Amino acid sequence: MPTTWHIRYQGDLLHIEDIALSAIADAFETPCYCYSAAGIRTQYEAFTHALKDLPATIHYSVKANPSLAVLRLLANQGSGADVVSRGEIHRALAAGIPGGKIIFSGAGKSPDELAYALDTGIAQINVESHEELEQLAEIAASKNTTARVAVRVNPDIDAQTHKKITTGTTDNKFGIPWQEAETFLRRASSLPSIETVGLAMHIGSQIVKPSPFDDAFARLAALAEEMRSKGFPLQTLDLGGGLGTNYENDAPLKLKLEDYANTIRKHFGALPYRLLLEPGRALVADSGVLLTRVLQEKHSGTKRFLIVDAAMNDLMRPALYDAHHDIVPVVRTDAPLSPAEVVGPVCETSDTLARNIPLPPLASGDLLAILQAGAYGASLASMYNSRLRVPEVLVSGSKMAAVYRRPDYDEMLKPECIPEWLDEDIAK
Ligand code: LLP
Repeated sequence: MPTTWHIRYQGDLLHIEDIALSAIADAFETPCYCYSAAGIRTQYEAFTHALKDLPATIHYSVKANPSLAVLRLLANQGSGADVVSRGEIHRALAAGIPGGKIIFSGAGKSPDELAYALDTGIAQINVESHEELEQLAEIAASKNTTARVAVRVNPDIDAQTHKKITTGTTDNKFGIPWQEAETFLRRASSLPSIETVGLAMHIGSQIVKPSPFDDAFARLAALAEEMRSKGFPLQTLDLGGGLGTNYENDAPLKLKLEDYANTIRKHFGALPYRLLLEPGRALVADSGVLLTRVLQEKHSGTKRFLIVDAAMNDLMRPALYDAHHDIVPVVRTDAPLSPAEVVGPVCETSDTLARNIPLPPLASGDLLAILQAGAYGASLASMYNSRLRVPEVLVSGSKMAAVYRRPDYDEMLKPECIPEWLDEDIAK
């Protein structure tokens, strides 16, 4: 059952803040994502509170939930942004986050993206390869400007999370091996269009144990101090994101925000660097649900299938990472629960949203809420099976608005064309 105060039952009806999810379904139809503004704000405040004695700034990782409205909400709280593409820079700027608060990460950046980033006065570009450094130096020189650069090091620390979201071991494509930091910094400091401001690191996502952070921070702190002692004037350390959330409401989270902050304090509290944090999931995951309606129920062998109108294209995480999301009925009853496999209409067996979910008897049209869907939900959505992109609704108290409206089928076809010569070819 939901445990967060902004998504909870009032009477027997599940609410997001002051609005019943059934009212959202009536107003905007299903499937749709619903986000709690208060929930996101509270998480942001919890972060800043936990870090208040540290020289740390938060750069929300846009990929977790790139909705313009969510970005504006966080911008209003004072957040900067961590971006990985030109599109994300464009979004962050459009939402009101200035270039001076944006950090550009990412394993491969095109010349066009680097040039665009420099034009925005971007705070920092995290360079991930020796070749990228040379390309960036050339682009910056051609613009008569200086690029502020951090080198993303790969600390070779296992984040102990799902292998598809592990980024900090030598088997992963990210960063340069930490042992090469000095060579990189030497080269960077010889390039007049490059100002090397720091080191960066991100070891993975959905990390729920303290030890990977502890080990990685220890390595980064030691490396920074060694480089500083060798004369490199490092100012910033970017610690990446990665703090996990609790996808199973009954299981207590193994790594709390306070413990994460204490691990940061332990390694960097006495050092002279500005710390940059890039949380994504931890800021938004708990504040979102994917609202869906039951289409049909059917039984096969011992299995109870609930076919719902949301599918793997709307929420990819179960199919991609075997991720678990709890699912609860919007109308709570005392009826006996029995395990169900909640599946979508997409023509793939991987379109299974959750297995073994205890649910009461449900009829066609009944509403379900898929929990902890505020991060990497809508942002990973596609139009597979020509299903329209799932809309998003933001709630604040008793106010609600579609912040991504449901497109129509003509819009779906708009970017496509049938070349005239296709029919001419047949006529010949
Ligand atoms: N910084 C960098 C450089 C990143 O690559 C990421 C996430 C973050 C920060 C934010 O990490 P977070 O705090 O959200 O863990 N789609 C996957 C997660 C992929 C994360 C990719 N990088 C999922 O649904 O679990």
